[in-house]
Amino acid sequence: MIISVPAVMTRHELDQMHDHLNQGSWQSGDLTAGEQAKQVKHNEQLDPNSKLAQQLGDFVLDKLAQHPLFLSAALPLKIYPPLFNRYQDNGTYGFHVDNAVRFISGSATRVRSDLSATLFLSEPDEYEGGELIIQDQFGEHKVKLAAGDMILYPSSSLHKVTPVTQGQRTSVVLWLQSMVKENSHRDMLFNLDQSIQNLTKEHNADHPEVIKLSQLYQNLIRQWADC
Ligand code: NI
Repeated sequence: MIISVPAVMTRHELDQMHDHLNQGSWQSGDLTAGEQAKQVKHNEQLDPNSKLAQQLGDFVLDKLAQHPLFLSAALPLKIYPPLFNRYQDNGTYGFHVDNAVRFISGSATRVRSDLSATLFLSEPDEYEGGELIIQDQFGEHKVKLAAGDMILYPSSSLHKVTPVTQGQRTSVVLWLQSMVKENSHRDMLFNLDQSIQNLTKEHNADHPEVIKLSQLYQNLIRQWADC
């Protein structure tokens, strides 16, 4: 399932982030690509080892940790440090699949990528092209969201970024290992959780059916989650 997560960052936070990013040190995107991806990746990234990238990355992770829809959809266990990238002058990233396992540099931690995410930092009218195209069993999905919104999709899918022919597209990409590995299980849990939350608004958290559905939700998590 492809899920859009709105309003991860506010306008003010985006403005501040752009100010910081403009002063950052940018390098070729090849440096973090696998062998196949390197052939098709033409963009720039903020030096992931810089203090700035780490601080801005932590800020994004903090925002996500407070976002109920993200937590419900992703059920995150481990998140790889966010990577900041930008596309301009026909920058593009052809069809590829993200690496299944990523090693966090300087640590022994490995992250299996179950879900990939792009958090858009530029408004859609600031650049031409730059759509994220995600391929799944239902076809191709074209994604271009407002600044501050994020798209979450299975890392198992092929995806690409079309050439940015005008302007500049800045975004954050991240990969995460979910407590629930199986996409279909995670999707069902997300739908169940959303229904429970809607029912709770309509009735109350102490409505007997809400309590029973919550029990079902928690017991499915107990069965499917690694933690
Ligand atoms: Ni990718």
